[in-house]
Amino acid sequence: MRAHVETGEVVSIIPSAGREAGSSDHTLNPALLRSNLVVGFGATDSEDVHPFFTLRSQLLKHVRATDQRFFAIASTQPGNGKSHVAINLAAALSRIHPTVLIELDLRRPSIGRTLGLSPDHPGIEDALSGAASLQETAIRIAGTRLTVHRVRDPQADPETLLASDRLRELTRAIHDADDRPICIVDTPPTVIHDDIMLIAPVIDGVIMVVQEGRTSKRALVNAIKSLSPTPVIGSVLNRSISAPLQTADYAYYYNPMEQRQPA
Ligand SMILES: Nc1ncnc2c1ncn2[C@@H]1O[C@H](COP(=O)(O)OP(=O)(O)OP(=O)(O)O)[C@@H](O)[C@H]1O
Ligand SMILES: [Mg+2]
Repeated sequence: MRAHVETGEVVSIIPSAGREAGSSDHTLNPALLRSNLVVGFGATDSEDVHPFFTLRSQLLKHVRATDQRFFAIASTQPGNGKSHVAINLAAALSRIHPTVLIELDLRRPSIGRTLGLSPDHPGIEDALSGAASLQETAIRIAGTRLTVHRVRDPQADPETLLASDRLRELTRAIHDADDRPICIVDTPPTVIHDDIMLIAPVIDGVIMVVQEGRTSKRALVNAIKSLSPTPVIGSVLNRSISAPLQTADYAYYYNPMEQRQPA
């Protein structure tokens, strides 16, 4: 069951976080990463991480071809695996390139919990409201080139924050950083609210996470329309949620550089 999304290469995951510790930053807990299926930092010879390496390679090709560096991970429904893909792709990217992971699912944030980040640190919602600077919301992951801006507390009124000029200012500041990071943005589901339409204008391209048996053609087509003119540059078929949790069930496919609709 390879679904209608054209297959690229199969990839997969791994845990085992530690590399040399960085400066002042947050040190990840390998056991927590393992239990939360965060494999992108792990051993390169694990087959679990390969899907994310493949996705990374395709994305880097796109970056080189276009000079674009801001990408959102989106899906039509809750629970399709957006955050899973965003975190693991960002982790895999950060092994070879400065990477910033930004959580803009202000309603149901999960990145802080998944990575075990301190709840005391200001969140991106504080930067969006003007209560904190980007420097204050940045959490650098020790021993990696990953910086995370996660949401600390779920927001009841994300539209106001996302519609403010601050979003554009903050993303521009991240984009213009000297180390030219690649930014991966985790987003809320497209079918539930219109948050994605407020996020799309600050994004260069979208990677759609499609879940086998759950993502409908109609919802996907509507999502692509609502993102427009921001292009969908690829798709990831994430079928592991409906299947038992086994290594072989991690399967991702990437369709680079095309705006694609399901058959
Ligand atoms: N390929 C996979 N294999 C196993 N479990 C997965 C896979 N992808 C996602 N999951 C698990 O499914 C759950 C939902 O995934 P995730 O939180 O990434 O979805 P989401 O699209 O971000 O959801 P939401 O819309 O609520 O933000 C999580 O517990 C995650 O660990
Ligand atoms: Mg999520």
